[in-house]
Amino acid sequence: MTSPSLAGRLSSPRRETDPRRLAEAVSGRTVLITGASFGLGAATAELFAAAGATVLLVARTADKLDEVASRIHGNGGTAHTFPTDLSEPAAVEALATAIIEQHGAPDIVINNAGKSIRRSLDLQLDRPQDFVRTIDVNYLGPVQLLLRLIPAMTEAGGGRIVNISTVGVRMYPGPRWGAYQASKGAFDTWFRSVTPELHARKIATSSIYMALIHTRMSAPTPSMRRLPGLDPEHAAQIVAAAVVDGRRVLAPWWSWPLDTVSAAAGGVFAAAYTRAFRFTADSASARARHEVLR
Ligand SMILES: NC(=O)c1ccc[n+]([C@@H]2O[C@H](COP(=O)([O-])OP(=O)(O)OC[C@H]3O[C@@H](n4cnc5c(N)ncnc54)[C@H](OP(=O)(O)O)[C@@H]3O)[C@@H](O)[C@H]2O)c1
Repeated sequence: MTSPSLAGRLSSPRRETDPRRLAEAVSGRTVLITGASFGLGAATAELFAAAGATVLLVARTADKLDEVASRIHGNGGTAHTFPTDLSEPAAVEALATAIIEQHGAPDIVINNAGKSIRRSLDLQLDRPQDFVRTIDVNYLGPVQLLLRLIPAMTEAGGGRIVNISTVGVRMYPGPRWGAYQASKGAFDTWFRSVTPELHARKIATSSIYMALIHTRMSAPTPSMRRLPGLDPEHAAQIVAAAVVDGRRVLAPWWSWPLDTVSAAAGGVFAAAYTRAFRFTADSASARARHEVLR
């Protein structure tokens, strides 16, 4: 693996690059990773499995999950696949039951599956489905899964839940990102709200506010391809840092002042975004408004 660019490193939270420290934290543990078929989830699964964790892989695309699992098996690791659509309540229920019956309570849950949409309001006026899909995958499905796993984790003596959030929820929300930001913000708010209750159950929490990762999620927006970010393998080392250090919050250094300024001077951001909106456009894929269910 090559080193990330300086700009990519500076734009993102701290990474854990020592495989021995990760092995001490996860070897022999069961780690459930949602969204493990592509991008950050797949890279995290491979990193944690290489450190000795048994990884349980969840996503819809069964053949991609199988590819990730067979790479892990090829490297001597242990992985089990659970093809599931997290936007289907019956499927989430069946997933939780299968995990608990087959593997017991996971020691660590990484809530990573996500759906992003960047599309202007003009193009969304006849697309309520954009809001249904994002809220289902980014909020309701993960909460439903955790509602089943939390009692099992408590009974097993505790564990850790890591939420893969976005730095966007710490800043004044920008145009075109409404559906995505609202759904990621919903989970983030719920997760922070129940954190004291989870701690009372000996379940530790980590919220990771990721900056740009170059994956198929960010690829359709041309400006994202030019901005500094991390590749999924380096971003997975941020997930490793959350588990190794046990930190409650991991965010890029620059998000702290921006968070404060956003809260104190929201009007300045609103005015800047109003101007910027006129000079930016929807991507070709957003304009295509295709009816793909992904
Ligand atoms: N990329 C970025 O710049 C960035 C920045 C900040 C935060 N994040 C967050 O990082 C996480 C990972 O994103 P990524 O960049 O790795 O994106 P990605 O490559 O598109 O991966 C998203 C994962 O979520 C799964 N998923 C989507 N819909 C699902 C559903 N209905 N049921 C089950 N699984 C589903 C996908 O698998 P299937 O399609 O096979 O179901 C895939 O494995 C997300 O939570 C995202 O919000 C990303």
